[in-house]
Amino acid sequence: TKLSTNKLSAQKDGYRFFMEKEIYEQSAVIADTLLGRLSENEVLFDELEDGFFDGINEIKLCACGTSYHSALAASYMFERYSQVKTSVEVASEFRYRSPIMSKDTLFIVISQSGETADTLETLKMAKKAGLKTLVICNVDNSSMVRIADTSILTRAGIEKGVASTKAFATQVTVFWMLSLHVARIRKSLDESEIEKQIKFLRNIPASVSVSDVMHERIKRLSKRYLHGHGFFFIGRDVFFPLALEGALKLKEISYLHAEGYPSGEMKHGPIALADPELFTIALLPQHMLYEKSKSNVEELSARDSTICAISPLEFDKADDFIQTKEHEHYMLEFFEMMVVVQLLSLEISIRLGNDVDMPRNLAKSVTVE
Ligand code: G6P
Repeated sequence: TKLSTNKLSAQKDGYRFFMEKEIYEQSAVIADTLLGRLSENEVLFDELEDGFFDGINEIKLCACGTSYHSALAASYMFERYSQVKTSVEVASEFRYRSPIMSKDTLFIVISQSGETADTLETLKMAKKAGLKTLVICNVDNSSMVRIADTSILTRAGIEKGVASTKAFATQVTVFWMLSLHVARIRKSLDESEIEKQIKFLRNIPASVSVSDVMHERIKRLSKRYLHGHGFFFIGRDVFFPLALEGALKLKEISYLHAEGYPSGEMKHGPIALADPELFTIALLPQHMLYEKSKSNVEELSARDSTICAISPLEFDKADDFIQTKEHEHYMLEFFEMMVVVQLLSLEISIRLGNDVDMPRNLAKSVTVE
């Protein structure tokens, strides 16, 4: 078996920007990330020695930027599927706040590069405190891979765009797999449920493949979102970290003001900003708190925010509607919506005439504090 990433070239191959190319590569690199790790009824990680999770009662995740958002998504899955108490922290906070580290905690750092200074430091702290450490990383032989007890590589291939896309996609893929792997060990899910979800895992590559129709639609819509005084990206459950990630993508490459929020939090302050110049990008998956999320969006619509709804289900309270496919599982909806928010940022940034791959003030890898 050969990884398709071996064939990925360092050229743009006809795409306008590396970021666009990397969005299109997601299907292949996720397939690589799944390769050899799925059987009928089990998720296998050769990297993890037998008994790796023995004595672990808690998981702590630490990362920066986009990797932090995948860690947030992971926390929902570790608690829901593996039934392990999980917390997540931004590395620059964790390192200076005298955290309590107990030995029954598995410490996981997430990093595309494996070199981010703050994240690296938290890994060293956890090691020093005697915690078991694991890194989810895209670069073999990076500093974090060398230091952590164990590493799982994400196989996204080289990512050139400063705004991370395919690395995030493979991180979330690893976390979905890992939460099921732990669920099987701890018997926190029925075998039949694990088997069912393994079938869904195999569908991720299809769920992220970009159709021409979808890309064209987003390109056309993007011209309506170039001005105004800001964006809310909103979602619930794992769609909240996705909302944060959507907002971050837009900030990074378009320089427009965007915030990610949990949909249910609007009424506690942010809704005060609602008016036609405030654009709400609403994530409305069919299989995760649909009715609740819908009524949150309706409240914003009633206050005249301009709404762009992303959902497989028709939604008549939106100004714009991006229809996603119907999927059998909410995580497959997550992956398709991830592509939608990535493309939306890309197209807005291109229309604004920005250098998508080299956004101002940002570096691909931040190796200094
Ligand atoms: C930089 C990049 C971000 C990235 C973050 C963490 O700020 O611009 O795109 O998410 O670092 O990087 P890492 O390599 O640790 O995932």
